[in-house]
Amino acid sequence: MRHIENKKLNLIRACIFDLDGVLVDTAHYHFLAWKRLANELGFELTPADNEQLKGVSRMQSLDIVLQLGGITATEHEKEVLANKKNAWFNDFVDRMMPEEIFPGVKQLIRELKAKGVKVGLASSSKNAKTVIQLLGIQNEFDAIVDGTMIVNSKPHPEIFLLTAEKLGIVPEECLVFEDAEAGVEAALAAGMKCVGVGSPLQLNRAHEVVAKTADFKITELAKL
Ligand code: BG6
Ligand code: MG
Repeated sequence: MRHIENKKLNLIRACIFDLDGVLVDTAHYHFLAWKRLANELGFELTPADNEQLKGVSRMQSLDIVLQLGGITATEHEKEVLANKKNAWFNDFVDRMMPEEIFPGVKQLIRELKAKGVKVGLASSSKNAKTVIQLLGIQNEFDAIVDGTMIVNSKPHPEIFLLTAEKLGIVPEECLVFEDAEAGVEAALAAGMKCVGVGSPLQLNRAHEVVAKTADFKITELAKL
């Protein structure tokens, strides 16, 4: 009984945001760049295929894409293909406007901070710092972990555990916002709470699912 009461006292003291697909629609830019690569290699990449790529590192995503196309490649060829995809992705990023940040996201971050909740960014992308700079939110986070700082890609919990450590908050008091199945799994494996951003069918393992990041109401923090 005492144990249960203690558990209930666990408050959310930090929110950790994924980037692509949670703060901005760069997930779509990743998809378009992978689709172009698949087309160049002679096959189609569908939005359903793309769900497997979300949250996963560049090289692991490439392995999945090649597998979907039944293509084998040497390490050197893979490097060339990954660089090509990254250049196409960056063509979109270069044209990105600060207004592309999802509506209500800045407000949500501000509200969380005003309540004394720490805010972290945990993105598998090696382009994350460029993207948040372009959006003008690089100074909003108490801790940032990106794809250059981790060894294991989501669904491994490493990225979230490292972010929590940098924030100085124990995992049980962290809430993750994720649009990727692999990201939800990573959050759960880290022992954190998770809000899925997207379809409840896809993200049914999350503690709560919202259609858009800003649909999350901070009054929910106490209920999680
Ligand atoms: C994740 C995206 O945030 O970053 C994946 O969801 C992407 O789609 C991964 O593959 C790696 O991104 P980058 O920018 O390092 O190629
Ligand atoms: Mg994402």
